[in-house]
Amino acid sequence: MKGQLITLEGIDGSGKGTVAQYIASRLRETMPERKLVLTAEPTTGQAGRMLREELARPGGEDGEPSTAMRMQELFLFMADHAYHLSETVIPALNSGAIVLSDRYADSTAAYQGVTLRGIVPDPVCWIQNISRPWNVLPDMTILLVLDPLAALKRLRSRPGRDKFERQEFLQHVDGNFRRMAALEPERFVQIDAAQDAEKVGNAAMDAILRLLERC
Ligand code: TYD
Repeated sequence: MKGQLITLEGIDGSGKGTVAQYIASRLRETMPERKLVLTAEPTTGQAGRMLREELARPGGEDGEPSTAMRMQELFLFMADHAYHLSETVIPALNSGAIVLSDRYADSTAAYQGVTLRGIVPDPVCWIQNISRPWNVLPDMTILLVLDPLAALKRLRSRPGRDKFERQEFLQHVDGNFRRMAALEPERFVQIDAAQDAEKVGNAAMDAILRLLERC
């Protein structure tokens, strides 16, 4: 594939949306000749819409979710990822574009790696193994690292919270992301997301420009 795939990851409230917009405008400025595709998971496809509806329900409303519900959620995220790959990511990469995705398969490993604890052994690895044969690995994954307490503080000022925005849950997700990044240091670039937005954006941009110069 001729293009480059860059993904942005981090817990809720880590600032991915702001950083994605910042990177997009800087890339358009510095590389006007390159096609840029900005995309996200969950997508707006069928599975993505079902997931967003489910995610908008506050956590704990119906008690602890059953194993069936947790598995259903995992495989909906996987179906949405497969849709994202075939409808957007692979065609864009084949056309030579820079693809910037706000969340990607690593979110599934990190988040559903928490919801499946106690159901399968080593859930993060289990989830990664299921998607490895058909996934497209990003050229670079930017992980915005932020303490879950600070992230929740930011989220409190936003309307419409989703069910995963609870401290204990986000602490486990944060741990999963950090372990995943430590295991693949050549792909992950970790950025301290407690800094002001411009510094975070510039650090991400520096890493991306280094990657694009190599390609
Ligand atoms: P998102 O729309 O990125 O929310 P935010 O902009 O607040 O980060 O994602 C919605 C929620 O879905 C978020 O809590 C993370 C969760 N999620 C998963 O649990 N698994 C996944 O595979 C993805 C892509 C998202």
